[in-house]
Amino acid sequence: MRLVLVGPPGAGKGTQAEFIAAHLAVPKISTGDILRANVSQGTALGREAKRYMDAGDLVPDKIVINMVRDRLAEPDATDGFLLDGFPRTVPQAQELDSMLADLGVGLDLVLELIVDDDEVIRRLSGRRTCRGCGKIWHMEFDPPTHPDVCDRCGGELFQRDDDRPETIANRLREYADKTAPLIDFYGAQGKLVGIDATGPVEDVTVRAIDALRSYGG
Ligand code: AP5
Repeated sequence: MRLVLVGPPGAGKGTQAEFIAAHLAVPKISTGDILRANVSQGTALGREAKRYMDAGDLVPDKIVINMVRDRLAEPDATDGFLLDGFPRTVPQAQELDSMLADLGVGLDLVLELIVDDDEVIRRLSGRRTCRGCGKIWHMEFDPPTHPDVCDRCGGELFQRDDDRPETIANRLREYADKTAPLIDFYGAQGKLVGIDATGPVEDVTVRAIDALRSYGG
């Protein structure tokens, strides 16, 4: 299955992507994770992307599109994938359609995670991520036993630079201006399914998998 997850920052895309990708047995491709890996390795792409990410702005389409084109060309993505955080603008979505058309395939479904802004702020303010295995924690909703240590791998937990309150506000504006138009874009293609992404993580996973099953996933 070829699936896109869309939703505001902090909607739970990364959290749900792990479970959904495992359920579908497809690779999870997160543009945010790829960009952050480039930033921490100090690559030219990472240096260019960092100033946009730190401000909560979207990285320019050209950079992200090339990155995704390379990633989708890897053998593990041939039979399916789950895209988390891409596309994020209408030009990115048009480019994705044309990349897939060149390969003779198309997207099967776009799953929208629906949460309101207050919940987004609560989720992002308490988020911690493991430097070792990438597991996402929340200090209130899914707390680790020790505040700085990952229970899964013992790695160090960190707070993302873009989870500061002023940056969160800008990310929400970027979402409303540039990403929310994708809802109409994919709605018009008949590929959009929205689910309520509030409540316990496991309940959201059940809703997501039920939605996929009704579309053959
Ligand atoms: P990216 O990493 O994609 O960030 P985002 O879309 O803002 O999403 P987040 O990762 O912040 O949130 P999420 O929805 O994954 O939520 P999570 O599961 O962590 O992008 C970062 C930056 O990179 C962008 O700002 C941009 O600059 C750049 N970028 C990336 N892709 C780009 C693109 N295509 N084009 C241009 N620029 C791009 O959950 C959040 C918290 O909530 C966690 O603590 C979690 O434990 C908790 N939580 C999750 N679910 C629940 C629940 N059901 N109940 C309670 N808590 C929950």
